[in-house]
Amino acid sequence: MLFELKNVHHTYLRDTPFAQVALRGLSLSLPEHQTIALVGPTRSGKSTVVDLLAGLLKPAPGTLFFEGDDVAAPSFDLERIRSSVGVVFQSPESQIFEETVGKDVSFGPQRKKVPLAESRRLVKESLEAVGLPYEDFRTRYTYALSGGQRRRVAIAGVLAMQPEIIIFDEPTAGLDPSGRHELLSLIKRLKQRHHLTIIYVSSGLDDVIEIADLIHVLDQGRLVSSGPPRAILQQASLLADLDIALPEAASIALALREIFPAIRTDVLNLAELEEELVKHASPTTGHIT
Ligand SMILES: Nc1ncnc2c1ncn2[C@@H]1O[C@H](COP(=O)(O)OP(=O)(O)OP(=O)(O)O)[C@@H](O)[C@H]1O
Ligand SMILES: [Mg+2]
Repeated sequence: MLFELKNVHHTYLRDTPFAQVALRGLSLSLPEHQTIALVGPTRSGKSTVVDLLAGLLKPAPGTLFFEGDDVAAPSFDLERIRSSVGVVFQSPESQIFEETVGKDVSFGPQRKKVPLAESRRLVKESLEAVGLPYEDFRTRYTYALSGGQRRRVAIAGVLAMQPEIIIFDEPTAGLDPSGRHELLSLIKRLKQRHHLTIIYVSSGLDDVIEIADLIHVLDQGRLVSSGPPRAILQQASLLADLDIALPEAASIALALREIFPAIRTDVLNLAELEEELVKHASPTTGHIT
């Protein structure tokens, strides 16, 4: 197992009047080479888990294992996590601090002392992976970029560090529909790189239902459900209790159950919904002619 959290607790500002309990005995596993979604309502503890996985917080109490090793053990070198995990933080725009795009994206490779020619190749490849042509963008000033472009530069900066694990914390929040579509396509392309582990944090299911291999649902700092996308879609009442909306296709399927009781509601997209409709509403069933 890549990461394993066992009964992990975390309280911010502990022992002060402002104490905020974020994790209350959270246990979950994150297998490698998969795309895993962490879904939960606001303040459920998702970003706290991200900080733990990035080695920025320590479980207290509780245990975090990385490749089977307890990260709190004195012999554990946190550098192992820091060199394998790349994080696109919530509001990644604030991850950009260099003056030009080229300098910003090359920050990681240079810190790792990657030779110049190799660093240039990584910067070019990372910028092109996020849809920003290298020649056009490398000398642009970062402050003059649009919101969507800044987010893509932040992602390119993470890609250029060649992490084996990439965490995206609500990466589509605040993007317009085309920005969201582009970002999700990028993540689908990254998924093709089979060695990568992608951890995608989201407050809803829409972004993740078609890309996740496994979904963990969090509420109030605990794991409340876990399984592949279809299994999660079958838990409509739990999702409603948490105020997590069903994706469009599944929600239409659920509504159509009134007319077609046998229709599957665990459809991942509109194409699957259409197939179900053809099956259940064909002239031979006599419902629709
Ligand atoms: N730096 C902090 N200082 C104090 N309390 C914090 C801090 N960060 C998070 N919290 C609190 O911890 C709890 C969990 O927050 P966290 O940010 O992990 O949730 P989240 O699921 O990422 O929420 P969101 O969907 O709003 O991003 C919340 O009650 C939050 O107010
Ligand atoms: Mg968060």
